[in-house]
Amino acid sequence: IRSIVSRPDGGSALAGRKARVGGWVKTGRKADKDAFAFLELNDGSCAANLQVIVEASLGDLGQIVPTGTCVVVDGHLKLPPAGTKQKIELRADEVLHVGPVDPAKYPLPKMRLTLEFLRDFVHLRSRTNTISAVARIRNALAYATHTFFNREGFLYVHTPIITTSDCEGAGEMFQVTTLLSEAESLAKVEERSKLKPGIPKKDDGKVDYGKDFFARQAFLTVSGQLQVESYACALTSVYTFGPTFRAENSHTSRHLAEFWMVEPEIAFAELKDDMNCAEAYVKFMCQWLLDNCLDDMEFMADKFDKGCINRLKLVASTPFIRVTYTEAVEILEEAVKNGKKFENEVKWGIDLASEHERYLTEVKFQKPVIVYNYPKEIKAFYMRLNDDLKTVAAMDVLVPKVGELIGGSQREERYDVIQTRIKEMGLPLEPYEWYLDLRRYGTVKHAGFGLGFERMILFATGLENIRDVIPFPRYPGRADL
Ligand code: 4AD
Ligand code: MG
Repeated sequence: IRSIVSRPDGGSALAGRKARVGGWVKTGRKADKDAFAFLELNDGSCAANLQVIVEASLGDLGQIVPTGTCVVVDGHLKLPPAGTKQKIELRADEVLHVGPVDPAKYPLPKMRLTLEFLRDFVHLRSRTNTISAVARIRNALAYATHTFFNREGFLYVHTPIITTSDCEGAGEMFQVTTLLSEAESLAKVEERSKLKPGIPKKDDGKVDYGKDFFARQAFLTVSGQLQVESYACALTSVYTFGPTFRAENSHTSRHLAEFWMVEPEIAFAELKDDMNCAEAYVKFMCQWLLDNCLDDMEFMADKFDKGCINRLKLVASTPFIRVTYTEAVEILEEAVKNGKKFENEVKWGIDLASEHERYLTEVKFQKPVIVYNYPKEIKAFYMRLNDDLKTVAAMDVLVPKVGELIGGSQREERYDVIQTRIKEMGLPLEPYEWYLDLRRYGTVKHAGFGLGFERMILFATGLENIRDVIPFPRYPGRADL
């Protein structure tokens, strides 16, 4: 349908041509004393529908008009009567397929359904205008991501989903186990250790079988960063883009238990290079949507957020503000002095709450803000310690509507310093030994960041809830389908 209607002329130049079209009925009605059915057909290729006219002689019209019915027809394209909005319609010559719907039972009747209601029908909600527009925008942003990084000379690296490393050191990991019994697991591990010695030993010298398949506790990754660092420290400019998992008890509209992250990592780079890369990447995505997804963006603007297209334009064209954490706290303290009320106390050392992030991006600057040089206490062990010994070379990109879109840093490349930091933070050294090897052998300054892909879609579309921008959202209480 896109190839017919999404042309500059709206498809009118195709009048007279034959076409085969399949899609799902958005709205259907019988007309002219049941001599015809008029169907608004959508196949998800674009936001627009194609009007299809079916004569009664071609089939049971009562069966094809209900919303949700799948219809495939052969027909010819013709100009609609003057005064109609559409530029082209299809007159059916033959009905090739009908996938019927019982309107009494179909869960998504023709009426305005809330996004909240649709979350109980994630397997069908892709039929709706909104969710299909989000799917196309999501796809476009993924394509933009690969285009941007490949144009900039980055190599796409597939990092693992299952890992024993806790990248953020926050213990928010889902454990991976098998359905094998303990005895079966042990037998397998025993078998493997005969073939390949070196299964890790516990302090008491006994083999640490753990209970499962991997011979030690394995988890779903919270971030591909540590692994992608090992590729950056060999291939220089790399990125990973994949699902990541967090077992945080997050009942917010900004958190998922399973979300996708884009994580570039650059060797021979410092914090400033990292910020430049993040800014260029976000700008590129905004411009990409304006250039490639305008019809879907117009739909979102119309239905949810009038400002979303202007926001993309603004972000694509104006420099981001950059302030240190200390300056950000001063700005917030100034606001408090002037009567602004925050629920969370503002003082040096706090982790910025989302109300603070929104104040900076929506009230104070009204554009994206990069906050850098955070107190070391509130950031991860791998971030490079600054000369003041109080802050680390971290940066967060904050955007209006969403708050934190990106978290990144220059990495600590000094072996002694990072080893001390790991210990200081109360983390065990052993699981990070391989990571320390990157500093033991041929260490180099490097930096990277992670962009929450769903947060980017929220920012672009103006939707309010992150559960609506991933096809099958996972959050506390929900992992089915
Ligand atoms: O700030 P975070 O935790 O940073 C990291 O994971 C680093 N290892 C990234 C790196 O430097 N390579 O997460 C990065 C981003 C956040 O800024 C946020 O946009 C998103 O990931 N994010 C989430 N998105 C949805 N649901 C959650 N539970 C999220 N947690 C983080
Ligand atoms: Mg963060």
